[in-house]
Amino acid sequence: MPVAVLSAMAEENASLVHQMVDVQRTEIGKRVYHEGCLWGVDVVVVFSHWGKVAAASTASVLINRFNVSEIIFTGVAGAIDHTLNVGDVVIASDLYQHDMDARPLIARHEIPLLGVSAMPSDTSRRKPLMDAANTFVKTQLAHELPAEIVTEFSLQQPFVTTAAIASGDQFISSTQQVVDLRERLPDVVCVEMEGGAVAQVCTEFNIPFSIIRTISDAANEQAGIDFPRFVKEAAQLYSMGIVRNLFTQNTL
Ligand code: ADE
Repeated sequence: MPVAVLSAMAEENASLVHQMVDVQRTEIGKRVYHEGCLWGVDVVVVFSHWGKVAAASTASVLINRFNVSEIIFTGVAGAIDHTLNVGDVVIASDLYQHDMDARPLIARHEIPLLGVSAMPSDTSRRKPLMDAANTFVKTQLAHELPAEIVTEFSLQQPFVTTAAIASGDQFISSTQQVVDLRERLPDVVCVEMEGGAVAQVCTEFNIPFSIIRTISDAANEQAGIDFPRFVKEAAQLYSMGIVRNLFTQNTL
């Protein structure tokens, strides 16, 4: 059974497909699924597009049409924990959907079908992913990213952590939204728009999942400027490096 590598960014997907051999393309539901071999591992690589519904529909196809054994998601996130900086990496422990709110019928953030608000990622992949990300930021990043990009984004000593992530169909770009999210979900360190949907679909179908997010912005008033710059210059190099290390340092 192949491993799915799902990206929220066209750039990351293109870089990964470029590294694949024996690629077969299949178009389903406005997505292009690439089956083939990536650093010795049988994979299906696909760009989900943005948002929870797009990610959920892609995850369903990966599970039910391509019979994948697990889903590994790569992308960027906005930091809401002030100790995180652009270029740090978060490996998800649990995923929330911060915009799920069926009060007063059920508790805020609870996913109706599952009866939980926090969905745990595959515990067996967390350490290998931490190792893969640490190897990348500590020993490879300085050679693989142009020196001017390392300086521009202050990527001298990125930090890697495992923590909770929240997803919603909103690009978070104000200090007030960050304050509100931190109050509602105190263990969450960053926000994005897909992980919680992949987590729900994988939990429903009993398929292990992992979410890797590189911090692109601080989800504040500056986020609309920081996000596209980081995505254009650095994000896909992080995803490639971390997935490559995971695949070459471990038996999948
Ligand atoms: N992905 C990266 N930055 C984000 C932000 N500020 N809000 C939502 N998703 C993001």
